[in-house]
Amino acid sequence: MMHNPKKEFRMPKTFYITTPIYYPSDKLHIGHSYTTVAADVMARFKRLTGYDVHFLTGTDEHGQKIERRATEAGEDPQVFVDGIVMWIKELWRILDISYDDFIRTTEPRHKLSVQKIFQKFYDQGDIYKAKYEGWYCTPCESFLNERQLKENKCPDCGRPVELVAEESYFFRMSRYAARLLEHIENHPEFIQPASRKNEMINNFLRPGLEDLCVSRTTFRWGIPVPFDEQHVIYVWLDALSNYITALGYFSEDDAQFLRFWPADVQLIGKEIVRFHTIYWPIFLMALGVALPKKVFGHGWLLLDDGKMSKSKGNVIDPTILAERYGSDAIRYFLLREIPFGADGSFSEEALLQRHNFDLANDLGNLLNRTLAMLGKYFQGKVPSPAGEEAGDRALREAAAVLPSKITELMDELQFSNALAELWKFIGLANKYIDDVAPWALAREGQQERLATVLYNLLESIRIISVLLLPVMPRTPEKIWMQLGIADQPALHNWQSILEFGLLPAGVQTAPGEVLFPRLELTGEGEAPVRQATKKEQDAAGKRASR
Ligand code: MSP
Repeated sequence: MMHNPKKEFRMPKTFYITTPIYYPSDKLHIGHSYTTVAADVMARFKRLTGYDVHFLTGTDEHGQKIERRATEAGEDPQVFVDGIVMWIKELWRILDISYDDFIRTTEPRHKLSVQKIFQKFYDQGDIYKAKYEGWYCTPCESFLNERQLKENKCPDCGRPVELVAEESYFFRMSRYAARLLEHIENHPEFIQPASRKNEMINNFLRPGLEDLCVSRTTFRWGIPVPFDEQHVIYVWLDALSNYITALGYFSEDDAQFLRFWPADVQLIGKEIVRFHTIYWPIFLMALGVALPKKVFGHGWLLLDDGKMSKSKGNVIDPTILAERYGSDAIRYFLLREIPFGADGSFSEEALLQRHNFDLANDLGNLLNRTLAMLGKYFQGKVPSPAGEEAGDRALREAAAVLPSKITELMDELQFSNALAELWKFIGLANKYIDDVAPWALAREGQQERLATVLYNLLESIRIISVLLLPVMPRTPEKIWMQLGIADQPALHNWQSILEFGLLPAGVQTAPGEVLFPRLELTGEGEAPVRQATKKEQDAAGKRASR
């Protein structure tokens, strides 16, 4: 048969993932980072496994809340948000967030498209003018009726609400409610976890969906309604549209929209599920655009004594945590500690424990012990393996199924379970050392067997390092340096871990810094102290004696 290269070329599959766009605040805490870190891990995992990924995040800059904050700060809203957005980008840099696009709702590309969306709704009769009289929660930017209030407060954030009476445009949600219900029921994967789906159906869709107010007139900081400049577009209609305006929807260049929409996963926190699984899909239906494949509402990160707030200070400031522990440890902690979807508590002690047990003891020691033995018995050179015994087989078999197990769990956004699987394998490798006792083999002069055991360990570490990449983007490089394979990308990719035994014999390893030196908390509210390395103690000694 003729060779047909064209036929063999396959376009990589696309994967579009989004986070909510953040309200500009210089008080973003570790809870806020949770959504973005999770999305980043997913984006990195999909890139690693060969997808053409588009990962979007950004900022939600309009609305009454931001206008008020700017006024309090005595600044023009645009100047006010510009400064904060720079800070948010810096925070994402510190946490190694690898977004492909960052949309700001104050950008012309977004504003123009939102105006066209609003116009289309109006032209096709989805929007009508009436008077709104009811409650408004400014922190959540949400309209609430009497029935929804909890003890006269906002049911979502518990803060006081304001009475609003103004002329507004309304969107006829009722037109689309039945279609949405049908879609939700026919697509069980659309709203995840399932409990959130039931809540939406029972609390909002079944009792009958009210029309939504989609414009405001009592403040100016928003996108003007194109045909009625007295009104600014309701900030949630403005904000939700970002997921398609960022792709060029309704612009001259909509190539990205055609390529990436519908989104594969939209990650959000549980308090904004209603906006994303009721209003957003209805807006999309009205536009005649496909709905996202999956909207996942994760749980909250809480402190032991309840909600996070800026007054709780240091403990929850992600920049301080990153400085103390490194961003890899924080990312690992966030995704390992709490099953994705559930609420979980955050404490620095728990972070420290994960750091010391999982990272320093399990992972760090596996590398140290292996390289130390390799140095002692083989001058640090990767030996050639020979033969296979039962213990070797168990390790190799576990390595062989690991990539597919982890892929399955990641596709279901079960980050914590995926990491538990990886750590099970790390545990197995550590146990393999204890069971085989390479030092005894050395004593008995069983060189060949010793070579096989150390080779299997090195190869296991290489496989582990690649699987760590999505969650801990910095650590694998350090491991490769020590394994002596940093300059061999063919040994760092997904393909290379599907086969056990690719690590070439003869490579010179280079043991280096301890990956995660154990840390201790010195006292309440104090920063943990890293146990100084020998080198640092020596240096300190020199400084002191100067
Ligand atoms: N601007 C809206 C989203 C508009 S999307 C079209 C918004 N912004 S936010 O800045 O308040 O929240 C951003 C993300 O942080 C949300 O996913 C929210 O759930 C998440 N979190 C904020 N505090 C959190 C915790 N304490 N724990 C977990 N996630 C939390 O909402």
